[in-house]
Amino acid sequence: MVTEKEKKTRGQVLEEWKEFVWNPRTREFMGRTGTSWAFILLFYLVFYAFLTALFTLTMWVMLQTLSDHIPTYQDQLATPGLMIRPKTENLEVLVNLSDSQSWKKHVEILDKFLEPYNDSIQAQKNDVCRPGHYYEQPDNGVLNYPKRACQFNRTQLGDCSGLSDPTHYGYSTGQPCVFIKMNRVINFYAGANQTMNVTCVGKRNEDAQNLGDFAMFPANGNIDLMYYPYYGKKFHVNYTQPLVAVKFMNVTPNVEVNVECRINAVNIATDDERDKFAGRVAFKLRIVKI
Ligand SMILES: *[C@@H]1O[C@H](CO)[C@@H](O)[C@H](O)[C@H]1NC(C)=O
Ligand SMILES: *[C@@H]1O[C@H](CO)[C@@H](O)[C@H](O)[C@H]1NC(C)=O
Ligand SMILES: *[C@@H]1O[C@H](CO)[C@@H](O)[C@H](O)[C@H]1NC(C)=O
Ligand SMILES: *[C@@H]1O[C@H](CO)[C@@H](O)[C@H](O)[C@H]1NC(C)=O
Ligand SMILES: *[C@@H]1O[C@H](CO)[C@@H](O)[C@H](O)[C@H]1NC(C)=O
Ligand SMILES: *[C@@H]1O[C@H](CO)[C@@H](O)[C@H](O)[C@H]1NC(C)=O
Repeated sequence: MVTEKEKKTRGQVLEEWKEFVWNPRTREFMGRTGTSWAFILLFYLVFYAFLTALFTLTMWVMLQTLSDHIPTYQDQLATPGLMIRPKTENLEVLVNLSDSQSWKKHVEILDKFLEPYNDSIQAQKNDVCRPGHYYEQPDNGVLNYPKRACQFNRTQLGDCSGLSDPTHYGYSTGQPCVFIKMNRVINFYAGANQTMNVTCVGKRNEDAQNLGDFAMFPANGNIDLMYYPYYGKKFHVNYTQPLVAVKFMNVTPNVEVNVECRINAVNIATDDERDKFAGRVAFKLRIVKI
C-alpha cells in the first residue's frame, strides 16, 4: 500500500526542508526561534567557560605544589645509581687490538666526556674546596643563588686523565680506563660525613682471576664529601660530578670478564635486588688480542 507521505513529490520535500531551515511564517530557524537559539548558545558558552575555569584552576593549584628546582618524585632515586663511561651497548667495553676502530669510538667519547674537567676550565668555573667536608651553601632565609661548585681537575685522574697520553687512556695497549660516576641526587648528603670509595671486583671466581691488577684514580677510589650536597641543575650551574677512574692493567685477553663496581658509603645501599644500578654497576671487559 502506498501512503500519502510516500506520494509526495520531490518539489514538496524540498519545500518542506526549506521551511524547516527557515520558516518565514513563524520566524523559526531549524525549528526554533531566535530567542531559543540565543539561550542555547548562552548555555553552552557559560558551560564551557565554567569547564575551562575549573581546568585552569586545578592546573594552577597543581603547579603551585611543584618546585622549579627539585623534582617532586625522586624517592626512587634515594639510592643513587652508578654508571660507566664509555657507556656502550650491553655495557660491554670491547677493545680489539687488531682493529683500532673498535676502541677509537670509546676514546672519542672519553675525550668529549672529560673536556669539562680540564684544569683550566675547572679553575675558571669552580672553587678550591676544603677536602673531607660537605660544601654546604644554605639559603638561610635569603635565596643564595647560584651555588658554587668544587673543582674536580682532570689531572686528579692520573694515568687515566688522557693528558699527554699516547696510549689513549690505555685503549691502544689493552689496558683500558673505565670511568665510574654516581648519578646526581639533589640534597643528598652522600657518605654521611665519611669519605666514600669505589671498589671493583670480578663477579665470579674466574672473573676475579681474569681481571688482574687495576689502579684507581683518585687514590683508593675515594670520592670526597666536598662534591655534596648537589643543589640541582638550576641552582648549581657549574656543578662538576666527581669521578673514579679504574685502569685495568692486565686483563686476560680473549675472554669476557664480568666486573662489578660499587660505592661504599654508609648511607648508600648496594644490595637492592630490584635495582641493579643501585650504588653499583656491572659491566663486561673484553680485550681481543691475537
Ligand atoms: C678483531 O679485529 C679483527 C681485524 O679487524 C677481526 O678480524 C676480528 O674478527 C675482530 N675480533 C672481534 C672479536 O671483534
Ligand atoms: C681540554 O684538554 C684537552 C687535552 O689537553 C684539549 O685537547 C682540549 O682542547 C681541552 N678542551 C678545552 C675546551 O679546553
Ligand atoms: C686544579 O687546577 C688548577 C689549575 O692548575 C689549580 O689552580 C687548582 O688548585 C687545582 N685544583 C685542585 C682542587 O687540585
Ligand atoms: C660558572 O662558570 C662561569 C665561567 O664559565 C663563571 O663566570 C660563573 O661565575 C660560574 N658560576 C658559578 C655560580 O660558579
Ligand atoms: C655531619 O657532621 C656534622 C658535624 O659533626 C653534623 O652536624 C651532621 O649532622 C652530620 N651529618 C650527617 C649526615 O651525619
Ligand atoms: C672504603 O670504604 C669502606 C667503608 O666505607 C672502608 O671499610 C674501606 O677501608 C675503604 N677502602 C679504601 C681502600 O679506602
